[in-house]
Amino acid sequence: MDQRTGSHRGSRRGPRRALRIVLPALIGLGASSGCREFIDYNSGNLDFDPERPQIDEAPEVEPYAGDDEIVLLAQQRFPTGLDLHKKVIWRTCTPNGGVCHNTKEYPDLHTPANFASAFSAPCNVQAGEFEGVFDGCEQSGDRIRFSGYGFGTDEIEIGWVEFIPGEAEDYGDSEPPVDAPGLHIHLASPIPAQDGSPRAWGTVGFVRTFVNAAGEVQESAYASFDSTWWPIGDRTHIVGTVREYQVEDVQELVATGIVMGDANRNGVFGAHEGAPVSMLEPGDPVGSYLIGRMRGEMHGEPVPGSRMPLANPPLSVDEMLALFCLVEGFPADGDSAMLSGPIDYNRCSFSEDPADLNLLGDGVTWASRIKLIFEFNCGGCHNEDSPQGNLTLLGDGVYERLLQSSGQLSDMALIEPGDPDNSYLYLKLIGDDRITGLQMPYNPLTGEGSLSQAELSDIETWIINGAVEDE
Ligand code: HEC
Repeated sequence: MDQRTGSHRGSRRGPRRALRIVLPALIGLGASSGCREFIDYNSGNLDFDPERPQIDEAPEVEPYAGDDEIVLLAQQRFPTGLDLHKKVIWRTCTPNGGVCHNTKEYPDLHTPANFASAFSAPCNVQAGEFEGVFDGCEQSGDRIRFSGYGFGTDEIEIGWVEFIPGEAEDYGDSEPPVDAPGLHIHLASPIPAQDGSPRAWGTVGFVRTFVNAAGEVQESAYASFDSTWWPIGDRTHIVGTVREYQVEDVQELVATGIVMGDANRNGVFGAHEGAPVSMLEPGDPVGSYLIGRMRGEMHGEPVPGSRMPLANPPLSVDEMLALFCLVEGFPADGDSAMLSGPIDYNRCSFSEDPADLNLLGDGVTWASRIKLIFEFNCGGCHNEDSPQGNLTLLGDGVYERLLQSSGQLSDMALIEPGDPDNSYLYLKLIGDDRITGLQMPYNPLTGEGSLSQAELSDIETWIINGAVEDE
């Protein structure tokens, strides 16, 4: 084993000092994101004034002048943002112990003050699964700065960091495998070699730029780790050995919340592509992450993660309209006082065609999604040549057939628009007690089968919203 690992520069301070983390309070400050407020998603304790926030002078808003029924309904049900919070947001957040609390990547929206602070707040700050991070939410990553021998000393942005446990090994002058035990750091650009050295000894410092309370840009090296380091592949990936006595420290470092520029590990650094998306973007409902999660897409890009609201029916059209108009009219510097003011349905651009908000986005239309799910997962058995269960789900006329009754349960239609619980095809997909035969899609190899949760919830959403054929 390499005696130098972890102790090369640590000898002065003793090996336990190989890792240094300072300023833990810094973690959680939006990285380079200017004047965003710090939101502690985990604590659950937020300052909240139980009195409804009052504003001295409510902004003047003309009532809606048109005759669209949906807008009139929305205006009557949700005159203010507080009404929307009370009747919709709170409802979708709190049943079953509070979906918003259980899923870390979802902001806490229990109180109007929390709801208001979702405006301009970063999204996916603490995603449970890295695959669930949306590129648009990725922020500029923290940077590493190397000091020691073997690597260049330029600061390089961190893509993502991972600790792979296992016994530390000395790879000498050869390249370690990509899954070698140790602390892996993936970088935005290759780390240069010093004097052509195949490996490096020294300290990797973790550096963050942030804006302090006074609005000044500050830099801080908040942690560092001493080790032996090897570059892997094109040198955008380095691995440092982690000795047994260092494991806890490294786990702590990884858990402290290094801001990763490519948190979802897909090679795209979201913040390089454009300004990071916020949870709710004042003036831009279509570009708000929370709304993207409800619709399953943003600007034509799929938004990963299960469809919001979890375990609840999707928002109705008037509810969506109220949310869209609230967000569209929300000023960039607005705070929770804004919620008690009237929602401006009259000037809201979405009041022109609210029915357009119906399917919660293009992601769940018949042509662009549902039909394809059937073709892909069911067409092998339910095709015109040999339709299993006497049902064809491939080719022309499929939509019309779905509205007719099931062969297995003749008093139920395969699809009952608006009512998944009385749609036999949907019951077959979730393996409901009322079905005859097997849960679909049947897999002959395992004898069982199921669509993914996302596919199931898209089909459910489509049925709830009227199962429209919108070719
Ligand atoms: C490997 C073959 C196979 C695949 C794949 C398959 N099915 Fe089936 N399906 C069958 C068979 C066999 C039956 C009849 C026996 C049964 O219901 O278990 C059937 C019956 C059905 C029925 C009952 C028809 C009626 O009129 O009541 C529905 C609904 C259904 N399938 C839907 C689907 C859907 C939706 C998918 C894709 C998500 C799918 N199936 C995938 C083989 C398959």
